[in-house]
Amino acid sequence: MKFFVDTADTDAIAELNDLGMVDGVTTNPSLILKSGRDILEVTKEICEMVAGPVSAEVVATEADDMIAEGRKLAEIAPNIAVKVPLTWAGLKACKVISGEGHMVNVTLCFSANQALLAAKAGATFISPFIGRLDDLNLDGMDLISDIRQIYDNYDFKTEILAASIRSANHMSQAALIGADVATAPPNVIKAMASHVLTDKGLDAFLKDWAKTGQKIL
Ligand code: E4P
Repeated sequence: MKFFVDTADTDAIAELNDLGMVDGVTTNPSLILKSGRDILEVTKEICEMVAGPVSAEVVATEADDMIAEGRKLAEIAPNIAVKVPLTWAGLKACKVISGEGHMVNVTLCFSANQALLAAKAGATFISPFIGRLDDLNLDGMDLISDIRQIYDNYDFKTEILAASIRSANHMSQAALIGADVATAPPNVIKAMASHVLTDKGLDAFLKDWAKTGQKIL
């Protein structure tokens, strides 16, 4: 499973990228707001840091305007994935922008039918939002499973990009189901390294080591 990092914080991206943990980046208007940066400027900087796809989201709601915004975003760098919402207008924009040879990430997907339409419209990535479904007491992982089965049934090439990931458990569950990509905030990717038994075991080893009175260096 590829790891995308869900942030526009360039310091956080750099830290994970140095460890080889970053296969791509996803941003959205809320993350641009949080960064306090200009969208074109920060997106260009991220595209220079990361070799993989960098999603930048359109904010228009009509298809023609989305296409114009998408073309402008795609000019930033060759690794831009234009992000469009899963509306009828967004599907029209997806068809045109992907037809022009750009990657398209169709976002805000909450049903298997929406994912089916995005694949038909030529999406490079479909972004089902796990956490936001869980927030409504639905099971976001069921949606990932359903889309996996549908895409495999018909050999759709659209990649399943598990999004709205809130915990390390979401990452392993998405990997078990076979999501192609998971995008997660930096703190969730770091949390994947944590285990209470690792901390407990290390503590015991260090206490015993101190009793030996030895040094390695
Ligand atoms: C990714 O592309 C999405 O923008 C993101 O994962 C949304 O996550 P949230 O539901 O935690 O805001």
